[in-house]
Amino acid sequence: MNILVVGNGGREHAIAYWLSKSMPSGSKLYCVPGNPGISVIAECAGIKAEPEPVAAFAKEKQIDFAVIGPEAPLCAGVSDALREIGVAVFGPSKEAAQLEGSKDFAKQFMVKYGIPTAKYQTFTEEAPALDYVNAEYDANRAVVVKADGLAAGKGVIVAENRQMALDAVKECFGGAFGKAGARVVIEELLEGEEASILALTDGKTIIPLASSQDHKRLLDGDMGPNTGGMGAYSPAPVVTDELMATVKELVLDRFLTGVKAENLFYRGVIYAGIMVTKDGPKVLEFNVRFGDPETQAVLSRLDSSLCDALYKTAVGEVDKIDLVWSKDTTVCVVLASGGYPGTIDKGHVITGLENAWKAGAYVFHAGTADESGKVVNSGGRVLGVTVRGQGIADAIKKVYEIVPMIKFAGMQYRKDIAHRALERLDK
Ligand code: AMP
Ligand code: GLY
Repeated sequence: MNILVVGNGGREHAIAYWLSKSMPSGSKLYCVPGNPGISVIAECAGIKAEPEPVAAFAKEKQIDFAVIGPEAPLCAGVSDALREIGVAVFGPSKEAAQLEGSKDFAKQFMVKYGIPTAKYQTFTEEAPALDYVNAEYDANRAVVVKADGLAAGKGVIVAENRQMALDAVKECFGGAFGKAGARVVIEELLEGEEASILALTDGKTIIPLASSQDHKRLLDGDMGPNTGGMGAYSPAPVVTDELMATVKELVLDRFLTGVKAENLFYRGVIYAGIMVTKDGPKVLEFNVRFGDPETQAVLSRLDSSLCDALYKTAVGEVDKIDLVWSKDTTVCVVLASGGYPGTIDKGHVITGLENAWKAGAYVFHAGTADESGKVVNSGGRVLGVTVRGQGIADAIKKVYEIVPMIKFAGMQYRKDIAHRALERLDK
């Protein structure tokens, strides 16, 4: 089987790595555009992750099966273009990808199918949006302002008070997020602990994957600015069996009902970002792809074949998938460049990668580049150091023994990944 992975982040390295361990013998793995970590296990080609070039590449390489990692190619229709030429694709259609590509589309879907979520209102003009904030929110109440479209994870502003919300609305309509901010969703703040629930679906059957938790803030203690994700662990003890059953019933099953009723072509993974509130779980957002860095943690606990699971999803046989999860806990610590999430300090040689692998970590590359045979940092999130441990305390100890083996100038990382899981153990 010729297999293609689309994307170049830590998530795609994790997907490619576990595919390479589980694909049928004689298979060949390709990746566009890939990164230096992925190039160890797959043939990478520096072409754009857009419908036409990817379809042309797939034809040339006689690709049988493709896995699309990030949201941008899904929203651009890469999966549709590949399906048209007969490739089995893990990734929803362009139409279904609006569940991530438009927050208003997602909110309307949630309301229509009774999926619990924050109260909201959508606006296409500034003046009525400002009036709404003034009328609905007291001066000191927090409000969440979201650019409707894809904004590389930066389009959500959690405003601590009304004035900040008014400023955020003006920022969105003023063009801070380009076209993504031409429509603005204003919603109530949800309070609680977050968890990521991923599920495989082919539009007929839906099966949850192991739970995980991301760490969105840059600094220890969940302080500092929001980032793409500074670390993750799996399972997340906040997701008890009872909570998972509730999420299955109120979120995943209703999601599937909506997908069927709206005739959306959906074969891939749905990621529900959940806030566990005192009134039960509510959906913060839907993503139409695997989470990053949740994937690094979740897939590193899968003992059954990833290739089999993703392929069966792509061909509409989710009912035949048998997932086996390890009892181990995984922790992934993201090593970021200096300056991240602002302007980054890049081009520094990274050392210690091999030692970290030898010590038992999966070192997934994200923002790395090859410069004359040396691996350097080239993006905000550079590496995701992932380990398996026997329980959360063991995994944390192991990962933080290995992380300091890796070095590059300006490197920063959180020292408290999985702290919430540890706190729960202590209770
Ligand atoms: P989103 O892209 O919609 O998931 O938003 C990114 C992050 O913003 C989420 O993971 C939450 O941390 C935060 N967030 C989004 N919506 C809300 C909300 N209604 N209440 C509280 N936090 C939110
Ligand atoms: N880890 C958050 C995301 O993938 O959107």
